[in-house]
Amino acid sequence: MEYSNKVMEHFMNPKNVGEMENPSGVGIVGNAKCGDIMKVYIDVENGIIKDAKFKTFGCGAAIATSSMATELVKGKNIQQALEITNKVVMEALDGLPPVKVHCSCLAEEALHAALWDYAQKNHIVIEGLKKPVEDIEHLHNH
Ligand code: FES
Repeated sequence: MEYSNKVMEHFMNPKNVGEMENPSGVGIVGNAKCGDIMKVYIDVENGIIKDAKFKTFGCGAAIATSSMATELVKGKNIQQALEITNKVVMEALDGLPPVKVHCSCLAEEALHAALWDYAQKNHIVIEGLKKPVEDIEHLHNH
């Protein structure tokens, strides 16, 4: 299995690892098949995602994709954040081996779950955002 330099870089030195006090939104998503769990925190101010952090009990690809996803989402507004799909994250990492694609879905879903939590807390509706799943095992659209 071959990993790109960028994947290795984000795996060895992941960005935005940690927790956040008083986040605007938190999302936790797991994948029952591999047993991995991802938690994403976002800090939103005036509709802009100021900061994002993640904690994971996950594989190297999950770490690398969450590192990249949290980097990409910072400074974006909510609608732009929704455009950061697992495909966008994978492209930014110069690809992932096919058997590891689902790991990037964990990052995307956890980010969406954090946005959903933010929307719930603020009684807003984020257009195009679907209610997150707790377990991505049965997601077939990725
Ligand atoms: Fe489970 Fe990568 S093997 S997220």
